[in-house]
Amino acid sequence: MNPTPLADLLALVRQHEEALAAALDAAAGDNTADAVTSLRNGWLGRKGGVVTELMAKMPQLAAADRREFGQRVNALKTRVEAAIADLEAARRATARPAGAVDVSLPARAIPLGHTHPLMHVRRQIEDVFTRMGYEILEGPEVEDDYHNFEALNMPPDHPARDMQDTLYLAAPIDGSTWGVRRGDTGAVPDAQVRGATLLRTHTSAMQIRYMQTYPPPVRVIVPGRVYRRDNLDLTHTPMFHQFEGLVVGEGITLADLKGTLDAMLTALFGNVRVRLRPSFFPYTEPSAEVDISCQRCDGRGCAICKQTGWLEILGSGLVHPAVFEAVGYDPERVSGFAFGIGVERVAMLKYGVDDIRLFYENDLRFLEQFPAS
Ligand code: DAH
Repeated sequence: MNPTPLADLLALVRQHEEALAAALDAAAGDNTADAVTSLRNGWLGRKGGVVTELMAKMPQLAAADRREFGQRVNALKTRVEAAIADLEAARRATARPAGAVDVSLPARAIPLGHTHPLMHVRRQIEDVFTRMGYEILEGPEVEDDYHNFEALNMPPDHPARDMQDTLYLAAPIDGSTWGVRRGDTGAVPDAQVRGATLLRTHTSAMQIRYMQTYPPPVRVIVPGRVYRRDNLDLTHTPMFHQFEGLVVGEGITLADLKGTLDAMLTALFGNVRVRLRPSFFPYTEPSAEVDISCQRCDGRGCAICKQTGWLEILGSGLVHPAVFEAVGYDPERVSGFAFGIGVERVAMLKYGVDDIRLFYENDLRFLEQFPAS
């Protein structure tokens, strides 16, 4: 059989092109589901669809003519598809009553809460010590003078007990309510101080409670809030957070303290140098203040570290024998170390925050700059 001439089939395609234009005109944008379906079936349907039928004629052509014919039929097919897409888009836009929910839209993300930077630091510290087998314990924020001061080798005339520094609580009048005692800020008489109730000024108070309750060995960290009679400024708040660490056992030395602090400070700050500087705390002997090399200048000296190259980060030492005696431990048999670290201070140095008040203002623009969890 002779091949059909190309011109014949192109003429056929042209007829269909005109028919399509006429059909679309006649439909006048009819975008009902039926109209769209019949357009699709009539032109693209696998059985009897115009485009399908035209394509089926391909074998009738000489091989050299097939390409041109195929291109023309494909162009027709593209026009049909475009017309269908337009009608469907118009349908979606008009089929929905105003205000109805379009369930095909992607869902809106539900905002999740965000870990507070102080909680983030707290968790990091807890992780370090949990891995080393420490117990985590919290203690009461309302303390008595004995646990907060006296048993920690701070006698009644110790300056830390001054009302300048400590928030004392008035005894409950009706047995139920506590209030901060107002009035003079002078020294509190010894007799009054001895039985006083106060907001703990440091987590060290829990050293005493823990050792009173459990025999050695001890390996514990105590996170918690502490209170001081300070006015708000860039670096002070009347409430802040600390971690207390306490380890007691046979043969515990300063080297154990140094190794433990190295582990914690490396986990918190990465590759920093740690140095112990002789200091004084009534409840440790010897006592050391601990510095890390300034991350900002890597120890060379800058405004942050006041040109010293070092930043003070915590207080520590070997537990004073008087503290062991107060809790009934035998200082001849056991030794131990303790340390106290401020969570806000860690967070400020770690994240370069220069105003402590930002941690409490709950401004999302500040909080959302920190890791989410
Ligand atoms: N209690 C001290 C403070 O609040 C910190 C501290 C220093 C805790 C030395 C300790 C320690 O356990 O051994 O500043």
